Amino acid sequence: MVEEETSAGVTNQLHPPSTPLFACKDISLDLGGREILKDISLQVDRGEVLGVIGPNGAGKTSLFEVLSGRHTAKSGSVIFNGQDVTALPLYQRARIGIGRTYQTPVVPEELTVGESFKAARQAYKPYLTAQEESWARGLVRFWIDPNEPTVLLDTLDRRKLLLCCLMMRRPSLLLMDEPAAGLINSEVDEFDELIRILAKELNLAIVIVEHRMELLDTIADRVMVMDAGEKISEGDLGSVLQDPRVRAAYFEDVH
Ligand SMILES: Nc1ncnc2c1ncn2[C@@H]1O[C@H](COP(=O)(O)OP(=O)(O)O)[C@@H](O)[C@H]1O
Ligand SMILES: [Mg+2]
Repeated sequence: MVEEETSAGVTNQLHPPSTPLFACKDISLDLGGREILKDISLQVDRGEVLGVIGPNGAGKTSLFEVLSGRHTAKSGSVIFNGQDVTALPLYQRARIGIGRTYQTPVVPEELTVGESFKAARQAYKPYLTAQEESWARGLVRFWIDPNEPTVLLDTLDRRKLLLCCLMMRRPSLLLMDEPAAGLINSEVDEFDELIRILAKELNLAIVIVEHRMELLDTIADRVMVMDAGEKISEGDLGSVLQDPRVRAAYFEDVH
């Protein structure tokens, strides 16, 4: 509760507007002389899952590049935990709790699993302990032998290794770009269960690019739809799928 004294000397009690953990406002991005993103705004709070959908090439990954700090937007701002992080590079955003996963799980192929964990623990100070590593392994259910070369891991285990290394730092926001891409059906269920735990038990804020409507239906509180670099709809999954602009974006090519 905030107390404010008006010019008439009367004290008003104001409810401060609730600030979400993470937001971006009016993000525009040009790459190679082309407009890739136009005036994208979004927000997500702790314990909330925002799904992002849209046809291939809509700009979903490019948006994540801006939100995580890999690309610099032409205009717009990114706010995390009450701080304007628009000018912070990727590694600094990672340090303050913005975690990101990638469409393609690239592991350090010259290292073993154990060496990868060690590198992640010692990536920056304070170094993380073996307990924190084992907490993350338990969370992700990643039990591969530390001596295993990462180059031998299949896609599921690559995704799990990277997620363990990310979770060790206890990010409060996760930007997940197609986390189930490349997994076979029997693996997808296990990964989906993990995403549910991250979202609903660890109280993280999650923005997830995902094509599978059945997963979004169960975990996403809201869904935003992108097409050709713009946000064309946002709301609960049922209503955005009924939106004529969304239907046109998805089905206009199907003739
Ligand atoms: N580095 C880049 N340089 C130029 N164009 C790019 C670059 N990265 C992506 N694009 C273009 O931006 C558009 C959006 O791509 P992307 O963000 O990968 O879409 P999505 O993830 O929704 O499939 C595409 O037309 C793509 O070709
Ligand atoms: Mg993409």
